[in-house]
Amino acid sequence: MNWGMKNRISRIIKPKTGRCVMLAVDHGYFQGPTTGLSNLGRTVEPLLPYADALMITRGAVRNWIEPIVDIPIILRVSGGQSILKELSNETITTGIEDAIRINASAITCSVYVGGEYERETIENLSKLVDDGEKYGIPVLAVTAVGKEMVRDARYLGLTSRICVETGAHIIKTYYTEGFEKVVEACGKVPVVIAGGKKLPEIDALKMAYGAISDGAIGVDMGRNIFQSDSPVGMIQAVRAIVHGGKSVDEAYEIYEQSKNK
Ligand code: 5RP
Repeated sequence: MNWGMKNRISRIIKPKTGRCVMLAVDHGYFQGPTTGLSNLGRTVEPLLPYADALMITRGAVRNWIEPIVDIPIILRVSGGQSILKELSNETITTGIEDAIRINASAITCSVYVGGEYERETIENLSKLVDDGEKYGIPVLAVTAVGKEMVRDARYLGLTSRICVETGAHIIKTYYTEGFEKVVEACGKVPVVIAGGKKLPEIDALKMAYGAISDGAIGVDMGRNIFQSDSPVGMIQAVRAIVHGGKSVDEAYEIYEQSKNK
């Protein structure tokens, strides 16, 4: 791995703990103004001190994030479909030059294994890995799950491993029972979990705890943080699990205290 690639990865995955809390706010690229992200800047601003990286599109970063901010950007560079159409029909929407201009610490796309456009999305990942290797920019592959897929360890292991074999540097997938098998399938490639739909806070914390216990190096969470009744409390609680080795109960206490302030 070249110096630039290593440097960018260590801006995202903190060398002190080997872990990371990514804040995902890229939902608008296919969901439009998702609950909590209509004014993305206002939502994100108080959360930035507790996030290790921000997953976002180029349009959102230019609109709502000040360039002086000290946060590694994981740039969502795939899209081309919406919730109204076939989700797997993605293309690369942002070229590597623009990712460099934005000073992205990583680039990311979704891969839809089993989806109608499976091959095209694997090809997208492959192109990003070629570009990323050329310029020292790591690629985070998101294992997107189509409506008809079952999110079990077998499926998530299959899709994560395909992303690893295609050359992804970080895998983002979903937590499930038997998650350690998914992590094992990824070998040395670090794995983070997405949060998915909004859950009660205690359940989202249990999920983060389970993922870390099973070998994930962190989370890339969106709705379970920014749609919480205490987004700051929630990101602090998640952080306490990921970086601080806290239990679910200890983390929940952090969330509760912050909520009741
Ligand atoms: C969409 C994404 C989103 O960033 C992802 O779903 C993370 O957010 P959440 O925790 O809300 O699921 O990658 O494909």
